[in-house]
Amino acid sequence: MSGLFQRVVIVGATGPTGIHLARELTGRGTPVRVVSRSRERLERAFAGLGVEIAAADALDAVALGHAVEGCDLVVDAIGLPADRMSDHPRTARVMAAAAAKEGARLLQVSGYWAYLPVRRLPVNEDHPRSGGNWMIRLRREAEDVLLEAGAAVVQLPDFFGPDVHTSTLQRPLEEAVAGRPMSWIGSPDVPREYVFVPDAMRLVADLAAHEEAYGRQFVVPGSGPLTGRRLAELAGEELGREVRLRAAPLWLLRLLALVSRDLRAFSPMLPHYARPISFDAGRLRELVGEAEATPYGEAVAATLRWLTR
Ligand SMILES: NC(=O)c1ccc[n+]([C@@H]2O[C@H](COP(=O)([O-])OP(=O)(O)OC[C@H]3O[C@@H](n4cnc5c(N)ncnc54)[C@H](OP(=O)(O)O)[C@@H]3O)[C@@H](O)[C@H]2O)c1
Repeated sequence: MSGLFQRVVIVGATGPTGIHLARELTGRGTPVRVVSRSRERLERAFAGLGVEIAAADALDAVALGHAVEGCDLVVDAIGLPADRMSDHPRTARVMAAAAAKEGARLLQVSGYWAYLPVRRLPVNEDHPRSGGNWMIRLRREAEDVLLEAGAAVVQLPDFFGPDVHTSTLQRPLEEAVAGRPMSWIGSPDVPREYVFVPDAMRLVADLAAHEEAYGRQFVVPGSGPLTGRRLAELAGEELGREVRLRAAPLWLLRLLALVSRDLRAFSPMLPHYARPISFDAGRLRELVGEAEATPYGEAVAATLRWLTR
């Protein structure tokens, strides 16, 4: 990486992907600038890491233009709550324009939602990217804006790990630490694939160093199939006590969504989360080689230790 880029700017850096990518890049000797709207949050998240800090809103073209000055790779790691999903294509457009003006490469940290609804497994880059609800279409639109601008788009499975705050796997782990049953969407025996966020950002740093990555999307592999039932066993082994799983069928979650704001916001996505998912990362492997994934036992233990720190 250090050979290809003089300075990398991560926009939306205060989330888990931004934090782990900044650590990975600085560890490889690449100078990094971190950007998000809140200077205070940036200073807290990156204390002692030796990165440059700049506060800017990615919806503000002038501010973002200044924030990316002197950088030759712009990373979009922005995450948005459900009620602001329509900002994804907007920030993507501002970021594409800022990178073009600077003559910088672009990379977007995205998810697999652009491929929903799933038509076949495992999902790879040839899977249809059509249909789906408004949230899915907005994610796809943002990816398309950046692909057209020549970006590398990395499509992550749902992730978990240190620094993660919002995810369908992190939340049950937080509940387990609090001594509550882990809530689970749908059947506890449906296998779904997740990625440990440090693994994902190591692969993203590897990929960014390849010229051939730009203008294409890449499915990022996780650690293989995991069921809710197995997650409860792994959490129980690490915590040294029984961890119960509270699996809820879709009809019950829809009912609960009437009273829970968080669940209501996520409810268009619920049916997709009750189905199996797996990924084929052959395209990524061709460029960066075989990916080392942390086994779930180890990754869940590390996440629980971080949650109980
Ligand atoms: N959670 C999952 O399991 C999962 C799975 C796959 C993919 N993804 C996707 O991966 C991406 C990265 O996720 P993440 O969890 O690392 O991100 P995140 O924590 O949700 O968001 C990262 C940061 O973006 C900043 N931000 C929001 N709006 C901004 C704006 N207008 N200008 C500048 N910064 C802005 C926020 O910081 P400030 O408030 O300080 O601005 C926030 O801390 C997201 O697109 C996410 O949807 C998530």
